[in-house]
Amino acid sequence: MSNKKIIIIGGGVIGLGIGWQLAKSGTAVTIYERAQAGRAASWAAAGMLAPLAEAHREEPELLKFGSQSLARYPQWVEALEADAEMSIGYRVEGTLIVGLEPDDTHQLRHLYTSQQELGLDVEWLNGREAREIESALSPRVTAAIHCATDHQVDNRLMVQALRRAYQMRGGILYENSTIKRIVVENGTATGVQTQDGFHEAEVLILAAGCWSAQIDGLPDTIIPPVRPVKGQMLALQMEEGITVKNVIRTVRARYPTSVYLVPRNDGRLIVGATSEEMGFDTRLTAGGVFELLRGAWEAVPGIYELPLLETWSGLRPGSRDNAPILGKTPVENLIYATGHYRNGILLTPITAYEITKLILTSETSEIIAPFQLDRFLK
Ligand code: GLY
Repeated sequence: MSNKKIIIIGGGVIGLGIGWQLAKSGTAVTIYERAQAGRAASWAAAGMLAPLAEAHREEPELLKFGSQSLARYPQWVEALEADAEMSIGYRVEGTLIVGLEPDDTHQLRHLYTSQQELGLDVEWLNGREAREIESALSPRVTAAIHCATDHQVDNRLMVQALRRAYQMRGGILYENSTIKRIVVENGTATGVQTQDGFHEAEVLILAAGCWSAQIDGLPDTIIPPVRPVKGQMLALQMEEGITVKNVIRTVRARYPTSVYLVPRNDGRLIVGATSEEMGFDTRLTAGGVFELLRGAWEAVPGIYELPLLETWSGLRPGSRDNAPILGKTPVENLIYATGHYRNGILLTPITAYEITKLILTSETSEIIAPFQLDRFLK
């Protein structure tokens, strides 16, 4: 139990996840959300829990952090579903990364080699073996990597569950409540200014995703290097005879967009995503939707017949080195939990747990130490 009064700026999965964890420990928490809680990047995401599929040789710490968060998922889901009294659609079928042409296979082989060098639990499959696992795959698929431990969760259900669980535990949530200024006095964060006035906090957590660098009041030197990276997405309705069971990701050496297909329990098939540096522009484009449909159709030709349910776009909070920015800052009582880029849903449990631990003990654990803001200040 902590007597500290905590304010969290941002009601996405990161803010809600930390808020829920803190509220469970008996801490008084208030979240200020600029729009509707969980309706920005958290809502737009596909919910892939994919530390292996998204692993890069040059990002070993991020891979380790993602794998640690994935390992927390089963227990975290159980606790969240119990508090929220609803399912969040956690599925463990695994992920297939597929290639269709010789160039793709070459790239896939390169990825497989780096995954092996990192000691990851992945398996190389030929086209026939891949289709045994996922019959919806095109006969053109010539090779695949099976990442059996890369799972998925229905992020929109997760948002609803987190919101419910947070409030059920006594957390306070203000929506449509923009933070005008973070108030820093003599090197210490003391609270926030909203349209309703000043709100005092003993600890302030900045979890505002791609808006984290937009809030006034921070000294210039510590503005988190977070920018929006647009992703266009769409959802199809699976029908009898055209169902996908596993998460499928394509490697397309010659096209600008590799796609992923993520099947949901309710029959939706999520297809994503473009990756565009367009600032805060969230418009859908013909080219973006075309690339998604072409990529999905090449890997799973049966999707041609499926009803198109929804198109949308979201803004990933990308940091300068693709890793999140977590923990203490040079301003006393100001903590960052932002910049989760392509891995926000995956990293929610570990972020919530580690940031809560930091607040309750004032100690930075070895797990989040590599992700502190100070790596950009050196
Ligand atoms: N993690 C998937 C994406 O950012 O598109």
